[in-house]
Amino acid sequence: QTGNQPKHFLDLDRLDTAELRLMLDAAGRMKRGEAANGEAKLLAGKTLAMIFEKPSTRTRVSFEVAANQLGGQAVVLEPSGTQLGRGETVADTARVLSRYVDAIMIRTTKEEILLEMADYATVPVINGLTDVTHPCQLMADVLTFEEHLGRIDGKVVTWCGDGNNMAVSWIHAAVRFNFELRLACPEPLRPPQAVLDWAAAEGGKIVVSPDVDSLVKDVDAVVTDTWVSMGDDDGESRHNLLRSYQVDEHVMALAKPNAIFLHCLPAHRGDEVTAAVIDGPQSVVWDEAENRLHAQKGILAWCLT
Ligand code: CP
Ligand code: NVA
Repeated sequence: QTGNQPKHFLDLDRLDTAELRLMLDAAGRMKRGEAANGEAKLLAGKTLAMIFEKPSTRTRVSFEVAANQLGGQAVVLEPSGTQLGRGETVADTARVLSRYVDAIMIRTTKEEILLEMADYATVPVINGLTDVTHPCQLMADVLTFEEHLGRIDGKVVTWCGDGNNMAVSWIHAAVRFNFELRLACPEPLRPPQAVLDWAAAEGGKIVVSPDVDSLVKDVDAVVTDTWVSMGDDDGESRHNLLRSYQVDEHVMALAKPNAIFLHCLPAHRGDEVTAAVIDGPQSVVWDEAENRLHAQKGILAWCLT
């Protein structure tokens, strides 16, 4: 990302630690109301386009509110109501939108579509979730962790459940923010080997095992996600594979006494987490959801300056 290339926010493995820290610092300043005037209104007169090929509550509303609060506006496109849904190419859509707007956020069914958008857009492209990653969520998650427990460097986080798009972005985050990540996943739902190989090559501290209890002992945070992601069509077999990966009070009791519970939401009480945990004293999921707004501002600030 040098020269005249737009500053895309595609995946955490494509960005370096210093850049990611700049985004988190900006997010914190915005949240505390400490941003300089130029930064606080950095979208004045600007427009963010948002393309959603999958449903969204948090990503959609937090980006739209962020754009408004930063002095700009957002335009939402659903493929069914645009020519994308009738076969206009991603490349042509990227070239046209770049003539109207100042940044493009896309939530898409395939990572390749995100990358194609970035190849052809002449404005920054932001990954609002793909089948394999969800980096904006991780920025909010790291922000939340650090608000509650201090710098995440050297800390230990355990992921329980499906080795899905969130798990992949947690792996990227563990490497970039230098913390240990333990993934308790059933064998058939391990994260992709290529991602684990990348993390190993980068010197990341990543452990994957099917044994929840041993991985959760004395950790700083426990995190999970839905057992059935958008686009998954094998819900019944996933429930069977993941039943013993539920985050309940027994699991939380093995972690450190001050450990926090994180979940990107939407949650399914009784499946991946019990009501007692997600609605209990260790859960920080509402701070985490709020921090999507502040994190989006930090990401937009980095992309546009
Ligand atoms: N966590 C998250 O991305 O939520 P939405 O699907 O509601 O955007
Ligand atoms: N893994 C989930 C995350 C939702 C924010 C999904 O892709 O549906």
